[in-house]
Amino acid sequence: MSTNNWDTALYEDKHAFVWKYGEDLLNLLAPQPREKILDLGCGTGQLTAKIAESGAIALGIDADAAMIARANANYLNLDLDPNINRDLNFAVADATSFKFDTAFDAVFSNAVLHWIPDADAVIRCIYHALKPGGRLVAEFGGKGNVKSITSALDEALQEIGFDSTAVALYAYPWYFPSIGDYTTRLERQGFDVVYAVLFNRSTVLSDGDAGLRNWLLMFASRFLSELSHEQQNLVIHKVEKRLKSSLFQDGVWSADYRRIRIVGIR
Ligand code: BEZ
Repeated sequence: MSTNNWDTALYEDKHAFVWKYGEDLLNLLAPQPREKILDLGCGTGQLTAKIAESGAIALGIDADAAMIARANANYLNLDLDPNINRDLNFAVADATSFKFDTAFDAVFSNAVLHWIPDADAVIRCIYHALKPGGRLVAEFGGKGNVKSITSALDEALQEIGFDSTAVALYAYPWYFPSIGDYTTRLERQGFDVVYAVLFNRSTVLSDGDAGLRNWLLMFASRFLSELSHEQQNLVIHKVEKRLKSSLFQDGVWSADYRRIRIVGIR
């Protein structure tokens, strides 16, 4: 979920690690049959479908209409599969303003909350979407996430003459809070935070040599979109050069992800 115009094909083809890691978060969610579960920022629907496979009634929402169109095509295409799961649905909705008539047993969110700077608005919507006793289970980028990549980007932009502070102010699209920041916001809203952890998870990027380039083009597009094609290539090349010794090993790039996992109870 984001305000980006995602390339859904690129997302599914080269960035499958986003939901592959999310499968582990499903263990923390532990969906039960007939529970109503909202998947906030469902992207192309892989984890929402897994939630529904467990027997829960799953609704995936995403602000990006192209992602929802792809999720519908992936999982709700009656022509391809007449036995589709009718307890699985998708809708376009904004994480900072959504409202449903149904109250949910759980809200699940993987790799999404760091895209939304207005954390309090999202937390408020989630709280009101839950039944009393309902749970929020979420994972997202925490303080220090992809720090070496963003620092290398900053330096590369400066080297080609951009005022990187101005670019960062305009383009920095992420919110990577500390545990203290995020749990305080949850508690202020009324959540009981029963689990919170910040951990490093170096994340392997697919496509060998092209892994970091693909990641930058997909996820750092707002930094790069101000640049000409030649400038983009130059910046990517500089970032790769800078990070090769730390993030490239045996033909594979990895990203220095740092995750927060939290469980909050309404
Ligand atoms: C993340 O999942 O942590 C992430 C993804 C894209 C850009 C920045 C962070």
